[in-house]
Amino acid sequence: MSEKSNEQYRVKAEPFYKTVGNEVKLYEAAYSRRLPMMLKGPTGCGKSRFVEYMAWKLGRPLITVACNEDMTASDLVGRFLLDKDGTKWQDGPLTTAARIGAICYLDEVVEARQDTTVVIHPLTDHRRTLPLDKKGELIEAHPDFQLVISYNPGYQSLMKDLKQSTKQRFTGFDFDYPSEELEASILARETGIDPDVAGQLVKIGQAARNLKGHGLDEGISTRLLVYAAILIKGGIAPRSACRMALVRPITDDADIRDTLDHAIDAAFA
Ligand SMILES: Nc1ncnc2c1ncn2[C@@H]1O[C@H](COP(=O)(O)OP(=O)(O)OP(=O)(O)O)[C@@H](O)[C@H]1O
Ligand SMILES: [Mg+2]
Repeated sequence: MSEKSNEQYRVKAEPFYKTVGNEVKLYEAAYSRRLPMMLKGPTGCGKSRFVEYMAWKLGRPLITVACNEDMTASDLVGRFLLDKDGTKWQDGPLTTAARIGAICYLDEVVEARQDTTVVIHPLTDHRRTLPLDKKGELIEAHPDFQLVISYNPGYQSLMKDLKQSTKQRFTGFDFDYPSEELEASILARETGIDPDVAGQLVKIGQAARNLKGHGLDEGISTRLLVYAAILIKGGIAPRSACRMALVRPITDDADIRDTLDHAIDAAFA
């Protein structure tokens, strides 16, 4: 595969990622033996940012696929396309990654149907191969290829879960929101917001996370706290920014909305 396509997927600048625990070391250990990785954790807690950072640190190209329930195996593997000269095979993202030795990141993998997910099986065990049945080709994965998947446990119904035979091809670890101090420093670094304001935003985030299971399906993510910080940094009054970024997107329940609005007013009195 050409150097050009390899370059195309390279993470060019160092992504800002603040280490939360021993995740960098664990990832490096998994990557050094090319073990597939599964990252679990709530939305907006830093999984995608971490994968980008690791791809940059390891100097590997990164190919990300957002999975959805309409995705077919051909969307991952590739298909024949018609052009003026007849039919032409086009590699899908998984095939490209296996050929060029990229890290292939399947985001929200449980969204994909199980008959789609099974195409990753031969790539994620000792075989490290990918059969292109329609093309009649068997690809041996490049020695640097690695597969990473992520998902938000708890959101999906029982129908939407990975098969055990898929799960048990991965090593995995849990992601969670960073600690208060760390999260405040992430907000400050990511948006340039005043550290005291960042601290207040994190407190509101913590208050909302305590409501999980008591009217909220999920707490306020680090991503939304970053949004609030961006709005405030852009000159929006903190109370309005927080209502807009932290509350309106996550709940339609009037009581919960009022509770959170009060917490915001108290934080920015
Ligand atoms: N440890 C961290 N270092 C730097 N930024 C972080 C970190 N954790 C979270 N963030 C911030 O949170 C935002 C959301 O993170 P990210 O997009 O990686 O979430 P995610 O876990 O992939 O969510 P989803 O499951 O919804 O895809 C990032 O854009 C970044 O601003
Ligand atoms: Mg993500």
